[in-house]
Amino acid sequence: MNSKRIKTLVSLIDSDMKVIDVGTDHGYVPILLRQRNISVVGCDIHLKALASARKNILMHHMENDISLYLSDGLNNVDVKGFDTLVIAGVGEKTIEHILSNEDKLKDIKNLVLQANNAHDQLRLFLNQKNFKLVKEVCLFEKKKWYVIMKFSYGKEVLSKEEILFGKYNLENKAYYEYKLNDLRKILPLVPNKEEVLEKIRILDDYLSK
Ligand SMILES: C[S@@+](CC[C@H](N)C(=O)[O-])C[C@H]1O[C@@H](n2cnc3c(N)ncnc32)[C@H](O)[C@@H]1O
Repeated sequence: MNSKRIKTLVSLIDSDMKVIDVGTDHGYVPILLRQRNISVVGCDIHLKALASARKNILMHHMENDISLYLSDGLNNVDVKGFDTLVIAGVGEKTIEHILSNEDKLKDIKNLVLQANNAHDQLRLFLNQKNFKLVKEVCLFEKKKWYVIMKFSYGKEVLSKEEILFGKYNLENKAYYEYKLNDLRKILPLVPNKEEVLEKIRILDDYLSK
């Protein structure tokens, strides 16, 4: 397993967190967390994905340490004692769907999320659900940018700029440059130029800090 993205997800988990990896697929997140002695279970909506996780977990002799559930989100997962979710490699709407299961979320205090799209929507959704944006890591791997977000339970008000592009962080400068170039390219093609121009202004401002 040599994925910078997965290693970053795992690096955002503190050693005392109890983790459910939702949409575990190959099971690499639970395996890396167990290597740090962190309590973790995995679940996935597809049997084939769970078979892949099981195979990798067996290869690492961790079958007694990592339970797996066949489950749409947390529906069939015994969440007792767990306080942290990892949800990565899925669309923003799937994350919203998983996080809409209020009954199962009562004890969840930390989220490590990597949505494949609509990061602004995800920030807004979690801000409204009383989760604070603790950290964002933007990384480039296999010709693609990934945005990994860590949230913890608690209230905060994010500005419009922060909803759109996250809290300003010098370490994410290359990502702001990529987004800015993208917006400049689409500007001549879109009917609603004002919206794109506003985003360009925000990124220009982030880059001039
Ligand atoms: C692209 S894989 C990502 C695997 C891993 N989380 C990662 O980041 O590398 C997405 C996984 O999420 C699972 N998935 C999608 N929707 C789900 C849901 N509602 N509940 C649980 N798992 C889901 C899929 O079956 C698939 O195995």
